[in-house]
Amino acid sequence: MPQAFTFARRFVDDVISSPINIFFVGLICYFSYKLIKKDNSLQASKDKNSKPKNQLSKMPKRDFTLEQLKPYDGVKSDGRILIGVLGQVFDVSRASDFYGPGGPYSVFAGRDASRALATFSVDQSQFKDEYDDLSDLKPSQIDSIKEWEMQFLEKYPVVGRLLKPGEEPNVYEEEETSSSDKKEL
Ligand code: HEM
Repeated sequence: MPQAFTFARRFVDDVISSPINIFFVGLICYFSYKLIKKDNSLQASKDKNSKPKNQLSKMPKRDFTLEQLKPYDGVKSDGRILIGVLGQVFDVSRASDFYGPGGPYSVFAGRDASRALATFSVDQSQFKDEYDDLSDLKPSQIDSIKEWEMQFLEKYPVVGRLLKPGEEPNVYEEEETSSSDKKEL
C-alpha cells in the first residue's frame, strides 16, 4: 500500500512539474468526459426510440374491413401489427422484426397477406386495395395459404375476421376468447 501511494505521489509530482503534462492530462480528461457524455446520450435516445416489445395489451376481439385493417401497420398504430390470412386477422405485433418497419415482411402489415403467401412474393402487386376473393388462384396456391395459416394459428392470436364487402361485423362478448386468443403477444 505505501508503495502504491509513493508511485501515485511521484506520478502527480511529475504531472504538475510541467505545464505541458498538465495540459495533456487536462486534454485527456476533457475527451474522456465528452466520450462518456456522448455514450450516455446515445443510450438515452436509443431507449427513447425503441418501443419495448411485448408490451401491448391483448386486443379485444373485433372484425375488420380491409380499410380498418390498414392503420395496424406498426407505424400509424401504437406498434400493433395485424395481418389478414384467409379471412382471419392475426395479431403479429410480437414479430415486429419480421413485419415491423424495415422488416423483410413489412409489406404484410395492416394488409390481407393471403395472395402474397399464395404466390410466395412480397411484391406490392400482391396487395389489393379492394377485397380480394382469391378466386383466380389455383387450388395448390390456396393449399399453400392454408399451410401458412396453420403456422400463424400456432404462433399468433386471432383478433377477428376480415370482412367481405357488405358483411356485418360480429359483436363479441368482452371475455370471449378462443384457444388462439390465449397466445402471448
Ligand atoms: C430468399 C428468400 C427468402 C428467405 C431466405 C427467407 C427466409 C426466411 C426465414 C429464415 C424465416 C424465419 C423462419 C423462422 O424463424 O421461423 C422466414 C419466415 C417467413 N418468411 Fe421468408 N424467406 C424468403 C422469402 C420469403 C417470401 C418471398 C415470402 C413471401 C410470402 C416469405 C414469407 C415468410 C413468412 C410469412 C415468414 C414467417 C414469419 C413468421 O413466423 O411470422 N419469405 N423466411
